[in-house]
Amino acid sequence: MPQSQLGSRVDGGMSNGQNRDLLYTDFKQMPATELAPSLADRDKVASHYNSRKDVDVQERSDSEILQLRNLDNWVKSVLISLFTCEGSLVLDFGGGKGGDLKKWSAQKISELVLVDGAINSVVDCLERYNGMLEQNIVEFPLTVISCDIFQKRLSDLLEKDIFFDVVSSQFVIHYAFGKEECVRAMLTNVCERLREDGYFIGTIPDSNVLVRKWRNAPENKHDFGNDNRLIATATITTIVHVITSRTADNHQFSIKKIKNKICFKNKINFIVEIMPSLITYYANVYACQYQPKSTPKTYNNSDVSNPFGIRYYFRLHEAVDCPEYLVHFPTLVRIASEEPFNLELELEMNFHEFFVRYHDKFRDLLYRLKVVEQYEPNSGNDRMPSSASSKDKYNIDANQWEVAYLYKVFAFRKRKSSPNETKIYPTRKTPLPKKLDKKDMIVTED
Ligand SMILES: C[S@@+](CC[C@H](N)C(=O)[O-])C[C@H]1O[C@@H](n2cnc3c(N)ncnc32)[C@H](O)[C@@H]1O
Repeated sequence: MPQSQLGSRVDGGMSNGQNRDLLYTDFKQMPATELAPSLADRDKVASHYNSRKDVDVQERSDSEILQLRNLDNWVKSVLISLFTCEGSLVLDFGGGKGGDLKKWSAQKISELVLVDGAINSVVDCLERYNGMLEQNIVEFPLTVISCDIFQKRLSDLLEKDIFFDVVSSQFVIHYAFGKEECVRAMLTNVCERLREDGYFIGTIPDSNVLVRKWRNAPENKHDFGNDNRLIATATITTIVHVITSRTADNHQFSIKKIKNKICFKNKINFIVEIMPSLITYYANVYACQYQPKSTPKTYNNSDVSNPFGIRYYFRLHEAVDCPEYLVHFPTLVRIASEEPFNLELELEMNFHEFFVRYHDKFRDLLYRLKVVEQYEPNSGNDRMPSSASSKDKYNIDANQWEVAYLYKVFAFRKRKSSPNETKIYPTRKTPLPKKLDKKDMIVTED
């Protein structure tokens, strides 16, 4: 922001939001290079996230989509633990209000940088961090930055000796898919300070599922959502190409009953035994299988001339209410593999598949995060629940589980630029953890 405007109120665009008394002078102003033009929907997205208030524990536990929130947290926790080591230096890319602070603490990371475009969210994160530090829930130092990560060069705002082991972007990068320049700017910000052999991990909407649901709707209908209790709706307004890839096939699961146990089989042929308490639930959900239809909504996958700007409006009860863009995943993989990004895809899985793959290994976490309650056969209640309902603590509510199907996880690893050479990075002098003031928060001058 130019000096002449210093002291004015934070308003409009990425800084819009609740009526908080934020002044530009409250923050540390820094210039950053423009990497891309801003997206048309940027203000709508920013003001949506800026206006979301930070809810307390009680309000959170009263949420109508509590199981979905808990399941999302379980997925993020598992993903984070798979790719983070003790001592990792981490960038939370689009980290919002710092909802993952505890997850980073559980991994005993050495340091965290959190960046987000919604200035109110970053202030909430700062306050949340201070509270956690006071209660010894977190022990790592934190840097907080407010910046448009699809437009500005993040590297300009970082100390010179910061290089990340992990960049984590949870439910964020689909907002960049309005324009190719923004996707490239996003990848520049992910990669410029990512060490070789470091990981870029995240969660995004699964375009294969969104497009399949859209195609399965009647020909002139472009919105779809949960049938019996509306939790999520998506209206695809500008579909130009169908999005199909390897995972489209993998999602066509089938259920088999083997010796009274419901098993889960997908096309890549692994069979996983489902936790007994989830049997009824799975049976309900997968009773409806996807039946591909040949309608004008079917496009040729090879004809992907412009995979950007495919916009849909997404509403998720209590959580999302703004325009989003489909992520054409093969395009992301292709661009990410180019120089200078050098990212190689290591993992791509729909949330359902991810759950099936990891629920056993991370079963305790499922209980701790209250995704489901632990079924104790000897507790006097030895009757298995017979049907799934939102009240059923042993099962995941079918509507919320259906929403989970709209998302996928990914992980990329940064290739070495020269296979026989190990790049030397500056030695980081990790600062001590300390309570943060708004003056510690870095915001871009614009
Ligand atoms: C669904 S929230 C996810 C927040 C957090 N990662 C989590 O998992 O709780 C999406 C976040 O992306 C941020 N975001 C969207 N577009 C952005 C942009 N252009 N620059 C920076 N942040 C952006 C929003 O402000 C919001 O906090």
